[in-house]
Amino acid sequence: MLLCATVACAVLLVTQVSEASITARGNVQKPNIIFILADDYGFNDIGYHGSQIKTPTLDQLAGEGVKLENYYVQPRCSPTRSQLMSGRYQIHTGLQHEILWRWQRAALPRNSPTIADKLKETGYSTHMIGKWHLGFYKEEYLPQNRGFDTFFGYLSCMEDYYRHTSGWLDNKHYYLDLRDNNGPVRTEDGHYSTHTFTERAENIISRHATNASSSSSPLFLYMAYQAVHWPLQVPEAYEKKYSFIKDEKRRKYAGMVDTLDEGVRNITRALRQAGMWENTILVFSTDNGGQVKQGGNNFPLRGWKGSLFEGGIRGVGFVSGGALETRGVVNRELIHVSDWFPTLVKGVAGGSLNGTLPLDGFNQWPTITGRDVPTARPYLLHNIDILYGKHGKKLYPHTWDTRVRAAIRVGDLKLITGQPDNGSWVKPPGDQSLPHGDVILSKDDKNKNVWLFNITADPTEHHDLSEKFPEHVRHMLDMILAINGTAVPPNYPRPDPASNPALHGGVWGPWVK
Ligand SMILES: *[C@@H]1O[C@H](CO)[C@@H](O)[C@H](O)[C@H]1NC(C)=O
Ligand SMILES: *[C@@H]1O[C@H](CO)[C@@H](O)[C@H](O)[C@H]1NC(C)=O
Ligand SMILES: *[C@@H]1O[C@H](CO)[C@@H](O)[C@H](O)[C@H]1NC(C)=O
Ligand SMILES: *[C@@H]1O[C@H](CO)[C@@H](O)[C@H](O)[C@H]1NC(C)=O
Ligand SMILES: *[C@@H]1O[C@H](CO)[C@@H](O)[C@H](O)[C@H]1NC(C)=O
Ligand SMILES: *[C@@H]1O[C@H](CO)[C@@H](O)[C@H](O)[C@H]1NC(C)=O
Repeated sequence: MLLCATVACAVLLVTQVSEASITARGNVQKPNIIFILADDYGFNDIGYHGSQIKTPTLDQLAGEGVKLENYYVQPRCSPTRSQLMSGRYQIHTGLQHEILWRWQRAALPRNSPTIADKLKETGYSTHMIGKWHLGFYKEEYLPQNRGFDTFFGYLSCMEDYYRHTSGWLDNKHYYLDLRDNNGPVRTEDGHYSTHTFTERAENIISRHATNASSSSSPLFLYMAYQAVHWPLQVPEAYEKKYSFIKDEKRRKYAGMVDTLDEGVRNITRALRQAGMWENTILVFSTDNGGQVKQGGNNFPLRGWKGSLFEGGIRGVGFVSGGALETRGVVNRELIHVSDWFPTLVKGVAGGSLNGTLPLDGFNQWPTITGRDVPTARPYLLHNIDILYGKHGKKLYPHTWDTRVRAAIRVGDLKLITGQPDNGSWVKPPGDQSLPHGDVILSKDDKNKNVWLFNITADPTEHHDLSEKFPEHVRHMLDMILAINGTAVPPNYPRPDPASNPALHGGVWGPWVK
């Protein structure tokens, strides 16, 4: 295969399962759960995928644990976060279109508990740090009212790493978006957020270990880093290590990844110092593919953030931690971000899944910790977005309308309909180890609206099989149609002028009583 000269590509294809022991250790206490979510972190931006960016901490943790190499997230931020928190597809929460904008009266609905609600119910102390991005127009949608004992972080999708401000609709006025339970935090001006959030995590960990009334309970820490979403800002010392990268965006991004890697190292150090590491399960995940226009990279995958091609949705992810006995394993079973809800609540914490609306996630703990245990997931709906503009012609009668944006994975096969976004392959700029230019353009007709790929054989989506296997296409279109029958209407309201922070003390926050 032409494009398989890189390590990242080999990682996609080679099947390698080494010796593994089976279950989590028989600790008396439930394990601590540390969930680290990176933002816009690309498939080709982690050391063990052969990246030009070095990530010694992440490589080591992943190497000692289970690398998830058939792992999926959603193409954008709030969608992935909503599925992580609820265990439910976006089509079941009304969040199937784009993202939640900070001026919208919309949020992850309160009709089903969050993963934090459930872990709290089963005895965990629950803390969240970093990016929420699941709606905040009313007080009741803030993280501390969704199962977290404490929240320290920001509510919107992105902001300045030093000022902790994000812009109003006019893109001219910027307002503070950093708070803890008690309100706005004004002490961190000028402090880089990867440092701010890491220090907060170390603080939570040491306080948890020394506080007599909390140390008897296990800890759930949801660490949603701002890194490595744009704006491309990084302290000089970290960028300097990558002075050999000439492309400015890629160089800054590499420095941001370096800071993130150091932050994760500091968190694991804090857990060790607190004597908690041996009873900890650590999960690391990205929220979507890298943004190639802002330094990220997913090569050899096709497309990037926002896309239903693999570059938008095939995620970096691994499980590690002192309580994990399964070590040095590459797992190739189909696992999705919605699976963490039942996997962590039931599989890891031994809790009950009662009281939730029907989950779309599956408990994958036996698959992650076991030897040759197949995925618990029969198929994976990537998304259905009926608000996205229709594209091309309706190709098949009496089934799903191929003009509508959707994608589904069934076993090896993935079907995409509608307009999935730019499907070119983008290499890391200036990476001397790769031949040819930086971009390989897609040769698809611009009105094309159906693709069928065998992802197992062709993870880089070079060979569309839709004309070869029309019966597979029809079957998968029928599946999308049936699943669409369970969808709720998308909730995507117009901007609400009343959300303007200028009306609320210059700080982003709830504006509806
Ligand atoms: C100790 O933990 C309890 C229970 O989680 C909490 O209410 C209290 O505020 C904590 N004390 C300190 C000093 O953090
Ligand atoms: C990690 O800890 C070291 C001190 O050991 C500190 O210098 C560094 O800034 C910390 N990094 C982050 C990302 O918090
Ligand atoms: C689930 O069951 C537990 C134990 O039986 C109970 O304490 C809890 O309230 C239930 N949760 C919901 C959401 O029904
Ligand atoms: C797709 O993206 C590539 C890389 O940025 C760009 O060169 C190309 O023009 C884009 N194609 C379309 C149709 O937008
Ligand atoms: C997809 O490719 C794999 C690996 O080559 C092959 O084993 C499998 O049969 C193919 N699946 C389908 C449905 O064609
Ligand atoms: C899909 O479901 C939505 C309801 O969420 C409905 O409005 C729409 O008509 C359905 N689309 C198709 C093509 O059946």
